[in-house]
Amino acid sequence: MTAAVPDSSAATIAEAVRAAGRQFAEAGLEAPERSAQILICGLLDIGLTELVLDARNPLDVEAQSRIASAVARALNGEPVHRILGRREFYGLDLSLNEETLEPRPDTEILVDAALPHVSAIVALRGGCDILDLGTGTGAIALAILSQVEQARALGVDISEKAVLAATQNACRHGLEQRFRAMAGDWFENISESFDVIVSNPPYIRSSDIDGLDDAVRRHDPVRALDGGPDGLDAYRIMAREADSHLRQGGRIVLETGFDQHDAVIDLFGEHGLECLERRRDLGGRDRVLAFARTASQAR
Ligand SMILES: C[S@@+](CC[C@H](N)C(=O)[O-])C[C@H]1O[C@@H](n2cnc3c(N)ncnc32)[C@H](O)[C@@H]1O
Repeated sequence: MTAAVPDSSAATIAEAVRAAGRQFAEAGLEAPERSAQILICGLLDIGLTELVLDARNPLDVEAQSRIASAVARALNGEPVHRILGRREFYGLDLSLNEETLEPRPDTEILVDAALPHVSAIVALRGGCDILDLGTGTGAIALAILSQVEQARALGVDISEKAVLAATQNACRHGLEQRFRAMAGDWFENISESFDVIVSNPPYIRSSDIDGLDDAVRRHDPVRALDGGPDGLDAYRIMAREADSHLRQGGRIVLETGFDQHDAVIDLFGEHGLECLERRRDLGGRDRVLAFARTASQAR
């Protein structure tokens, strides 16, 4: 991609957005106008409403220069949320760092699928303990906690920096009393059991990593993507271990790759876990599965 030539003539917010959108379009970036809006709103710390209301406000020299250098980074292939160091997920503004995946809109479907189970368990028991495996920014667990006051969650991640991001995000949203995060290799350091286990594990086949979009391959951490030779490494571990960490009536809700539903259902089936639900993503592809212990194995 070509290096940016910052458009220094942009003097108002509206002009800056227009200029950035134009440069993104010329560079062939996806959703150029929307990306320009997100980037400039984020840099100026304003919402879309203020973007409209304050469109004619002049930008000072410092703001113009920050915008020019951020636009240059975007033109160089860096995703706008990476440049901003944060991304919204399920209405929560989440900080990112170099070891966290940018949470994706498709993962909100996992949250939607998990919420009825969490609420049903709360109605029955007055609370719900959730384990979020590979928590990253804490996105899934924190989204659930933001919706269900009686839920608590433990987030686990192999990355210490992800644990730090998840902890900071919990504090930022006032959820720190009900969320804790710790470093670990899946179930390695976990002795407790839970009502609901959620996870969006790495599920890309190792041989497909090189062919991913530049923005993903260069800016999302490989540990968050690489699911081993067939993409199923993490699911194998979860299928084997999840049951011994699941309370009676417990549920497991997982994100998968678009072509992995049948394989993951088989893996969990081999360990006495029955698929309750399959959900598709915003593009109509298989994305989320929910499991429970089969009736014959119920404890
Ligand atoms: C696809 S990302 C999901 C992040 C976050 N849950 C989300 O949905 O945005 C997978 C996460 O699993 C973590 N991870 C990878 N291997 C792991 C392991 N062996 N044990 C625990 N976490 C692991 C990665 O560091 C990464 O944060």
